[in-house]
Amino acid sequence: MALVTKAIKGTQDLLPNESYKNRYVEQTMLDIASKFGYKEIRTPVFEHTELFSRGVGDTTDVVQKEMYTFDDKGGRSITLRPEGTAGAMRAFLEHGLFNEPLPQKVSYLTSCYRYEKPQAGRLREFHQFGVECLGTAAPAADAELISLAHEIFSHLGVEGLQLEINSIGCPTCRKKYHEALHSYFESKKADLCETCLDRLGRNPMRILDCKSPVCSEIAKDAPKVLDYICEDCSAHFEVVKKHLDAMNIPYVVNPTIVRGLDYYTRTVFEFVSTQIGAQGTVCGGGRYDGLAEQLGGNSTPSLGFALGIERLMLLIQAQNTPLPEEEKPDLYIASMGEAATVLAAKLAASLREEGISVQYDVAGRSVKAQMKFANKLGVRNTVVIGDSEIESGKVTVKDMNGGESVEMELDGFEDSYQSYLIQSAVAEIAGTEGIDMSGINLADLF
Ligand code: HAM
Repeated sequence: MALVTKAIKGTQDLLPNESYKNRYVEQTMLDIASKFGYKEIRTPVFEHTELFSRGVGDTTDVVQKEMYTFDDKGGRSITLRPEGTAGAMRAFLEHGLFNEPLPQKVSYLTSCYRYEKPQAGRLREFHQFGVECLGTAAPAADAELISLAHEIFSHLGVEGLQLEINSIGCPTCRKKYHEALHSYFESKKADLCETCLDRLGRNPMRILDCKSPVCSEIAKDAPKVLDYICEDCSAHFEVVKKHLDAMNIPYVVNPTIVRGLDYYTRTVFEFVSTQIGAQGTVCGGGRYDGLAEQLGGNSTPSLGFALGIERLMLLIQAQNTPLPEEEKPDLYIASMGEAATVLAAKLAASLREEGISVQYDVAGRSVKAQMKFANKLGVRNTVVIGDSEIESGKVTVKDMNGGESVEMELDGFEDSYQSYLIQSAVAEIAGTEGIDMSGINLADLF
């Protein structure tokens, strides 16, 4: 296939027959986050490269191997965001949001870019829904954050995700842990990949999430961070667990989770599925108490998570999770002749103003072809307007689901059709709720 008609490797299109599902899922996540006090933040898709090398960490796979970095025409080194946390923290510092009441809770829906080997659930352009809670050190915030992700999955009806939590301590306990890791990996030096040899001296913890099969095999028997955390970090972790227990949120402590980004401290967590292949982590996050300082700001203990939209949609597909059906248009106005099409356009415009979804012929088709098209759209009603309808001043509203047809005057059609829709909705609710409507003339109610 010609290059121009093929999307770039690791990117994908979201087509109209699927996009409504993503929209529903994304809107649900934003709405739930808003109940927890999160407000949307939008940051640029590209930032100074240094933001990520300092924030995410220059010994991480993301920074060392996966970033889309280029010089712009002004000679600045620019990077397409590989994740959303660094940008959110940059905006928080730049705009003085630390002067606002804390914590500042922000949410985002963004595209992210990582030059990874594409496979199911792993793309080079992917999308994250994320939240960041900036400016609180209290363990209650960790548990509340986790409960937000939990609430999202249960609200959407997604099942079988395991919540795994761990604590990776603070810089003080990290020192001891690094020493233990260093001496363990030093003894395995001969088998480590080149990147990990470099990490051994600079940041041995990063060897733990190296994707090379040999390094990950060696990493399995490495000392576990939970055995090295200090009293304060341990107490913090205990309170997080106590809150999760109180909220009835099931979890397992997985001492091997260290996360792939350098900014994490203390609590880290992942929601993992076994149903979508090797890339099973649907959501990951944790605390990053030192990030603000790393970027030149004042100490701002913070935490957050991001959820991969494509992985979530894969899971929804794998589980056949029922999502609301796509909304169908209410009305199709078929028209015969120019005067009728002009009238259809006029009626559609005023009905749309009332929030009713209407389509009419914008392709110059025959009435037969228009009706076929309307059928494919799955509209609830159709009307046909031709010379005889214009002359008689009456149209027939046909119920495409097999209900009775109703005759209406063209004069005041907008109002008549609107009350017809309301009456049908009431009748439908009465039907599903088992309310006896016999003897009630719905038209009398309006
Ligand atoms: P992350 O674990 O790198 O964390 O990514 C979060 C989620 O994004 C993953 O769990 C996964 O669902 C999705 N994801 C990551 N890479 C890919 C990819 N190549 N293709 C498809 N989906 C992917 C972060 O990005 C942190 N910023 C999360 C965070 C927010 N921590 C604190 N606040």
